[in-house]
Amino acid sequence: MSEFKYQHNVSNEEWARAERYHNSFLIPQDKILDAVRANCVKNDLPDIAVSDAEGKHLNLLAQAIGAKRILEVGTLGGYSAILMARALPDDGELVSFEVDDKHVKVSRENIETAGLSAKIKVVHGPAVETISQLGPDASFDMAFIDADKENNSTYFTQAKRLVRKGGVIIVDNVNRYGRISDPSFTDEATEGVRDLLKLIQQDPEIEATTISTVGVRGFDGFTWALRK
Ligand code: SAH
Ligand code: DHB
Ligand code: MG
Repeated sequence: MSEFKYQHNVSNEEWARAERYHNSFLIPQDKILDAVRANCVKNDLPDIAVSDAEGKHLNLLAQAIGAKRILEVGTLGGYSAILMARALPDDGELVSFEVDDKHVKVSRENIETAGLSAKIKVVHGPAVETISQLGPDASFDMAFIDADKENNSTYFTQAKRLVRKGGVIIVDNVNRYGRISDPSFTDEATEGVRDLLKLIQQDPEIEATTISTVGVRGFDGFTWALRK
């Protein structure tokens, strides 16, 4: 007998099929996002943007909390930034940090295509340095951390400074195909996720949970933290 009551060995293909099935009802075709994705492919960006389902989750969360200011670490081609910024009111703002020259260029093109250049500011440079200059404290409603996982704890500490009480911080890629909970993996990115979990555990001003995910992006997850 397995220890798991619900055990069923599901393949990546079945996870992806399930996600596509749900998306077919819940996530309409979107010509602007198609153009954004095509421009990312044309420029050889890595295929590591959030899934359509996770992107929509970020958009709905921003709408649900009435976010006016959003912070992002890791812009890539601007896909998650565009989805979150679409939830902002006219006077809202999203600030996204990106180190890679090409990613900055492509994301700005995509943000223009999406008609969001007035709302999204892409800050070029290593985020550990650039985010420390952002202010004022507690002026953001939401943060999405999705860059170099080695620096997750630094980004989280900065996001906590910048997000108001009652605001939300989401950290992407916290399972990484199961590596995080597998002690045989000791690479810096994996340790970066583990360090973040220890940091949150010790912080009485943060309450958090990890939602593990499967789908077109394989087995991963995001940690969802409330700033108390
Ligand atoms: N959030 C994006 C995906 C981000 S991929 C989306 O879902 O659409 C991770 C990004 O973090 C990459 O573009 C990478 O260049 C960037 N990155 C990596 N190290 C960084 C650093 N030190 N500072 C800023 N950005 C960094
Ligand atoms: C990788 C990074 C990400 O942010 C992601 O969502 C998926 C994969 C990576 O570096 O492999
Ligand atoms: Mg990610």
